[in-house]
Parts: sequence; structure tokens; C-alpha cells
Amino acid sequence: MTHQVPFHRLIASDDEIEAMVRTLRSGWLTTGPQVREFESEFARAVGVKDAIAVSSGTAALHLLLLAAGIGPGDEVIVPTLTFTATAASVAHVGARPVLADVDPDSLMLTGAEIERRLTSQTRAVLMVHFAGLHGDMKDLTAAAGPSRLVFEDAAHALPSSRDGRHAGAVSDGAAFSFYATKTLSTGEGGMVILPDREQAARARKLLLHGMSKGALDRYGSGSWWYDIEDLGFKYNMTDVAAALGRQQLTTLTARRSARRTIVDAYDSAFASHPALQLPSRLDEESHSWHLYVLRLNLDRLHCSRDAFLDQLRQRGIGANVHFIPLHLHSAYQRRYAYRPGDFPQAEGEYQRMISLPLWPGMTARDISAVTTAVLDIAEAELKG
Ligand SMILES: Cc1ncc(COP(=O)(O)O)c(C=O)c1O
Repeated sequence: MTHQVPFHRLIASDDEIEAMVRTLRSGWLTTGPQVREFESEFARAVGVKDAIAVSSGTAALHLLLLAAGIGPGDEVIVPTLTFTATAASVAHVGARPVLADVDPDSLMLTGAEIERRLTSQTRAVLMVHFAGLHGDMKDLTAAAGPSRLVFEDAAHALPSSRDGRHAGAVSDGAAFSFYATKTLSTGEGGMVILPDREQAARARKLLLHGMSKGALDRYGSGSWWYDIEDLGFKYNMTDVAAALGRQQLTTLTARRSARRTIVDAYDSAFASHPALQLPSRLDEESHSWHLYVLRLNLDRLHCSRDAFLDQLRQRGIGANVHFIPLHLHSAYQRRYAYRPGDFPQAEGEYQRMISLPLWPGMTARDISAVTTAVLDIAEAELKG
């Protein structure tokens, strides 16, 4: 049987398992002391004053926009090359997501593209640090101008620093995701960063039903009484998840180095092949290497990306595509009248992208199975 390499595999360390078991034995499962510690340790890691733990990256985006006051009548510019949560969160606060094209190299928003999409209703721009590469926030902030907000969807970007500042700490607010495949994972989970104290307080309130007190205060030494000060959500993180997150924070850079070793192996295997284009990179610190997005030079191949990907899967390699541009999905076409062809750069790149397996526990055999399969297919399909 061929050697199977999944797109992602969880490798839970003994320390992580013990941290969760300790929490289970502590008698406190829901939001409590572990969440509070996780928030302050996370804030320190990213270089911000405060961080707010929630149940998913999607919840983080929703709360971020709501607490920052984005609402009906507002437009928020988001890249079309992202996961639906980025744009759907804008719609869920009653605003309109305005899709924008991406730079064909970085696969991210640019200042020039923002300028093309600005209207009198544009309230904010939402940058996605694609694949974990820290985007050019200076360019974006300059294009947005002083009267608009700039946010970061930092779901991929932990850890990722540029010019000494971490992704998530270079804007008016950010959202992180701790989904199963992310670089820090609590199964499901997320973190909101809001530098404005009032907005952060509002997000904290809204994440738990708009209650004046959390469970720890009510069941602990405090009084049973609470007020519903706002109509909120159930977006809180559990202490078991936070215990796992805290443990993973201590190995964040070690795990990035492990991913980086795999990236280097992929890069050197693919660098000289005429049908393959390596992912963009800056310096060591500025990429979390959440995803390794290989691009095919389709003019040099007999097959399409889909056929290439099918062949990889047939050979047991769990490859994927990030992302199908939002304007190609039926919901975005129905609601906002987007059509294929609206964002040619994103569409062109999408048609030639393949995300390869990239997780810290990959063995030399796993890595070589991936590189061999990619090179074999590229060779067999090479034109001329
Ligand atoms: C760019 C981006 N934003 C937001 C999310 C949503 O995060 P979550 O799955 O934790 O809700 C994801 C994916 O998971 C993502 O890739």
C-alpha cells in the first residue's frame, strides 16, 4: 500500500494531555482561571495589552466587528481569496462585505486595490494574512486613510512578526483562530484583539450573553444576581480548551521551526522545476507557515490543477485548496451579484494553487512521499 500522508494530523504531546487532564480534575470546565491565564499569556506573546478568548475564529471576527461598531450601512473591504468566515462576519453585523482582488504574488490585499474599492460608505478594511505570511499593513493603512478602521483576520498568522510587530498587533483589531488545523489549536477556539478599551469591554460582555457577570463570579464567591445589559452570544471558551492553548503557546516557536524545516525541504525539492512556483516568503519571523501553497505553472503542464490534485490524492497525499474565491460561491453571487471573472488575479491564482501537508510531526518519510509524488506528477505532465 502507498504511504499515506494526511493533510493534517494532530500530535498531542504528553504535556498537552496532562494540562487538559489537570483541568478536568480541577472541577472547573467552563470559562474560568485557565481562560484568564491563556488570555494574558496570549496577549504577551502577541505584544498587546489584552486578548479575549472565544469559541472560534468566526466568533472572534463577529465580535471584533460588532464591538468596533461596524453595522448597517457600512461597507468593509475583504479579499475574495479567503475563507467565508471573513466576509460572512461582516454580513452578520449587518454591513456589506465588499470583495477585492489580491496581489498575485502575496495573495493578499494591496493599497492600490483598496483605493479602487473605497466609497463614502467604506468603514473598514479587513486584511487576511494569507497562509501565515504577515501582510503589508503599512500599505493598507495608508490606502484606508485616517478615517477608516483597519482590521486583521490573523487566523493563519500565529506566530508572524514584521518590523518587530506581531500580526494582530498592527491594526484597530484582530481575530485569531484555533481551529483543528491551525498553528495553535484548541480543537475550536479563537481570540479577539481590540486595543480600544471600551470596545474590548463590549466584546467581553457580548461574548457571554451580554451578562454583567461570568460564571466564575456567579458560582464563585460573588452573588447569584446578574443583569442582561445587552443581547449577546454564547461565544466563550472552556477552561479545558484554554489549558490546551496555554500549553501550546509554550511550544509555538518550536513548532514553527518544525514546519519551517518541512517548508525548506519542499522549497529545495521544487525550486528548479519549471512547472512549480514556490510560496512567497520574507524573513524568518514573518511567516507562521500555517499553509504551504504551491502554485502550478499551468502553461507548462498537460493537466489542470484539479487533475494534479486528484493524482496526489490517489497517491495518498492529502492535498487541499485554500481557498475557492468567495465570488465563485453561490451565496455571494446570489446576495451580492458577484460573477466569475470579477477578480481575475485571485481566480487565476486559485486555478493553480495546491496546499500541501504541513504539520510538525511529519517524518522524513512523509516529507519525501509528498515531494516524490509532486515531482513525479509534474514530470509526467510536463510539456515539451
Ligand atoms: C482566513 C480565515 N478566517 C477565519 C477562519 C475561521 O476560523 P474558525 O474556523 O476558527 O471559526 C478561518 C478558518 O478556519 C480562516 O482560514
